[in-house]
Amino acid sequence: MLGTDLLKEWDTDELIPASSQDADVRIAEQVHRLLARTRPDWTVLTAAYTDVDGSERNPETAFAVNASGAENVARAAKELGSRLFFVSTDYVFDGTSTRPYEPDDPIAPLNVYGQSKAAGEKAIREHHSDWCIARTSWLFGAAGACFPEKILRASETRPELTVVADQVGSPTFTRDLARMIRDLVRMDARGTLHVTNEGSCSWFEFAREILRQASRDSIRIKPITTADAGRPAIRPAYSVLSPASLNARGLRMPDWRDALGCYLKELRKQGKLA
Ligand SMILES: NC(=O)c1ccc[n+]([C@@H]2O[C@H](COP(=O)([O-])OP(=O)(O)OC[C@H]3O[C@@H](n4cnc5c(N)ncnc54)[C@H](OP(=O)(O)O)[C@@H]3O)[C@@H](O)[C@H]2O)c1
Repeated sequence: MLGTDLLKEWDTDELIPASSQDADVRIAEQVHRLLARTRPDWTVLTAAYTDVDGSERNPETAFAVNASGAENVARAAKELGSRLFFVSTDYVFDGTSTRPYEPDDPIAPLNVYGQSKAAGEKAIREHHSDWCIARTSWLFGAAGACFPEKILRASETRPELTVVADQVGSPTFTRDLARMIRDLVRMDARGTLHVTNEGSCSWFEFAREILRQASRDSIRIKPITTADAGRPAIRPAYSVLSPASLNARGLRMPDWRDALGCYLKELRKQGKLA
């Protein structure tokens, strides 16, 4: 989802797209061969095993892709003189904070996915010296299966939806994130940053806004608790990431509601939404 939008948004430099068919990040030789052939100034690692509940069932896969995969990319990039940009997640935090998380707040992931991404961050810091890590959250975009798409699809067949109301975070549009990654790379950003759309909401509030902006207000929507939802992976109750690290570099992301409007416009343009 993010990779597709990166390719769309990044027209200011020569980009070399790479999918899992070009290199499986779990296999060090494949990663090394790809980077040795392409010799990029920067390597942007967006690939990940992103199935949060699936990671509980398949922890080996989550760690192989998100931790060992990140290490393989870090080692090859370091050896071949490529700087490294890694995309990480709000799920490295445990959600007990009462204010937005800053990049140097202690991490304590609650689920296997968050643990594997935290291990990926550690591998980047250990095996490379010139890196930028951007943590983001609650991604949505036209190129992938995402929460707004699921809500829109469900609203076509169900008169009432139930959505979790006790998890709060910042929805982030992959196009805005892609533009920000491009700008951060172009300004040679270093260190750990938090990059999400501005503002925050619960999944319930997010769903309500999706239906409102899609003119489907007639669909009833009922708030439920995380316990009611009964998902395999524990999720942080509060994972809002502070924009301070971006703002300190003179950068700002749009508000999530405006970003949602742009996403819906894109769906309409692609004929996926009336
Ligand atoms: N989605 C979210 O809400 C969210 C939130 C916070 C952070 N993030 C992070 O943001 C980044 C982008 O997420 P996304 O939602 O755009 O991901 P996505 O749509 O699930 O795409 C992940 C990509 O990783 C590739 N991949 C998986 N295993 C691989 C392997 N072994 N070797 C090489 N490539 C592999 C997949 O390729 P194939 O399809 O070919 O397997 C896929 O193209 C990830 O690093 C994720 O951890 C996501």
